[in-house]
Amino acid sequence: MSTRTLAFDEAVRNRFSSRAFLPTPLTEEQIRQVLTDAQHSPSNCNTQPWHVHIASGKTKDTLEQAMIRNDQTDLVTPDFTFNYADFYGDYFDRSQEQARIYYEALGVSREDKAKRHEVYLRNFRFFGAPHVAFLFMPSFGDNVRVASDIGMYAQTFLLSLTARGYAGIPQTLLGFHADTVRKILNVSGQYRLLFGISFGYADPNALTHHVRMERIPVDESVILHN
Ligand SMILES: Cc1cc2nc3c(=O)[nH]c(=O)nc-3n(C[C@H](O)[C@H](O)[C@H](O)COP(=O)(O)O)c2cc1C
Repeated sequence: MSTRTLAFDEAVRNRFSSRAFLPTPLTEEQIRQVLTDAQHSPSNCNTQPWHVHIASGKTKDTLEQAMIRNDQTDLVTPDFTFNYADFYGDYFDRSQEQARIYYEALGVSREDKAKRHEVYLRNFRFFGAPHVAFLFMPSFGDNVRVASDIGMYAQTFLLSLTARGYAGIPQTLLGFHADTVRKILNVSGQYRLLFGISFGYADPNALTHHVRMERIPVDESVILHN
């Protein structure tokens, strides 16, 4: 098996959030290579607070069924809040724009609530991915620092997937069913679920495969001081 990986700039620019996967699974060795890369992520005081559970096969199917059931009964148990209404100004506009681009690629109109809900539910079907990683964390103080460590881990994980020819998508929505995920995966209540990452091989024939989200220019995010 080839272990050649993409160069850094290629991996960074080729990474995208895939929302359609082939059913083809990765081997355990391939998954372990990605995990070994991600383990090199930095963290506050080297606490390495990531506690990761990866579900595939029947366990993944059980999670999918349970989360879809929760949706039917409007049950959500997030460990952390998330509300689009909290975004404002440019941040709100960018969130609207990314949704517009995605739904337009799928040919789903704003008014078609039923179809939009169906598309939303694809999150809990892991977009067809053969694997899903759940990123749990211990709780320290207000949790901001530890959550940033998990973000560091997630980005290394995602870049490693891309560099090795796979794809992934981080999903806040998977954290909406924290109690269910803890129960099925037998995770202690001391760990909080920040988000999940569905991963596998991107489906090159999916309508959204070539969709890329724009970035604002560097100078809109950064001020250089001399
Ligand atoms: C922490 C985090 C959580 C996210 N949660 C979701 C999610 O629940 N569902 C989804 O479809 N996309 C989710 N995304 C993907 C973002 O929409 C995506 O990263 C953004 O639009 C930029 O696109 P790109 O990743 O393709 O460059 C999430 C991204 C991050 C970083």
